[in-house]
Amino acid sequence: MAESVSTKIEGKKSEYKGKKLRVAIIGCGGICQTHMKAYKEIPEVEIVAGVDIKQDRLDLMHEQWGIPKKALFKDWKKMLAAIKPDAVDVCTPNGVHCAPVVDACNAGCHAIVEKPMAMNPAECEKMIAAAKKNHVKLSVGFQQRYRNNTQALIQARDEGRFGDILFVKCQALRRRGIPNWGVFGRKELQGGGPMIDIGVHILECAWEFMGSPKPIAASGNCWTYLGNKPSKIRNAWPNWDYKTYTVEDLAIGQIRFENGAILQIESSFAAHIPQTDIFNFTAMGTKGGCSWEDTAIYTDEHDMMVNMKPAYMPADDWLVMFQRKLSNWVQGCLNNTPLGASGEAGLGVQKMLDGIYRSAEAGKEVTIK
Ligand SMILES: NC(=O)c1ccc[n+]([C@@H]2O[C@H](COP(=O)([O-])OP(=O)(O)OC[C@H]3O[C@@H](n4cnc5c(N)ncnc54)[C@H](O)[C@@H]3O)[C@@H](O)[C@H]2O)c1
Repeated sequence: MAESVSTKIEGKKSEYKGKKLRVAIIGCGGICQTHMKAYKEIPEVEIVAGVDIKQDRLDLMHEQWGIPKKALFKDWKKMLAAIKPDAVDVCTPNGVHCAPVVDACNAGCHAIVEKPMAMNPAECEKMIAAAKKNHVKLSVGFQQRYRNNTQALIQARDEGRFGDILFVKCQALRRRGIPNWGVFGRKELQGGGPMIDIGVHILECAWEFMGSPKPIAASGNCWTYLGNKPSKIRNAWPNWDYKTYTVEDLAIGQIRFENGAILQIESSFAAHIPQTDIFNFTAMGTKGGCSWEDTAIYTDEHDMMVNMKPAYMPADDWLVMFQRKLSNWVQGCLNNTPLGASGEAGLGVQKMLDGIYRSAEAGKEVTIK
């Protein structure tokens, strides 16, 4: 194993020069497999341990990824004490994000945690405080901001193409895509349904595009009509656990920002829409508008109304997006470079999600503090 190095890097330039970042994975399920593939392309990383409560997931870490059996644990506290990694990558269900991140930070480890950052803003604040206290880097696993179309539209925004961005409409809709693995239908373990699980992706990306204005109020509605019943259609998206399904099927939300802008979001695992899914945001500003997924800018130039579309845009491979987000965090840990998605970004997104859910429960607009 690589020599362990100090993780207290705030204000210092790379104590890690030439050494690998020793990363332990906590939660070795579905998304961990994508992380493991991505790390293969990040030579500065050595995966030194895996933690999961399920033996078959640990067996896979040994068989598929060659993690030694003695470096596989069922309890992250035991792993932190025995392995003393430089950093942890937390890929557990949402309800198990805060505790391992806080424990890892308190053990002097940097941390990246999969999206959403946690169950609620209070947990995010605990995680941020632990990272600050221990002078370690904390990042949230948002990858949409690293896509070529996001970066292009942010560049256009910085050049003033849109003027003031007034209104953004986000959609993360699946026609029939209720997760049939993991615990995605269980509110007590996930914090919510499609809004916190897939809405979060387009929300964080759109909010980043808007320049992260301060959210001040939210209103929302949630409905459950399909996920809590057995599927009635043969040959369609089977086997979700309808008996434990306690989250929404469809959530609609609106966020008001301090600068007067509005963001609307629609998110569903089971929406009656014409196509398999819709994953997009569109924006309207004082000087121009845009569409994200099919990347276009609508503006006025040279006495014309102009629609700008890229003649060529490299495809954003799923794995490449993960490499970009993990690399950003790894470089932050190793070289003190800025994080793309900090804990504070995760908290901002969580406040908006939380506002939508709180409003849906209250039946009226709620304040975001
Ligand atoms: N960024 C993305 O695009 C993306 C995609 C999928 C999932 N995710 C996020 O990743 C997280 C995990 O999702 P998944 O699809 O991999 O779920 P999963 O159920 O496949 O994997 C989660 C793993 O965590 C393990 N686990 C649960 N409690 C644990 C504990 N106390 N200690 C150690 N391990 C524990 C489970 O046994 C399981 O193997 C979720 O937060 C989800 O939102 C992100």
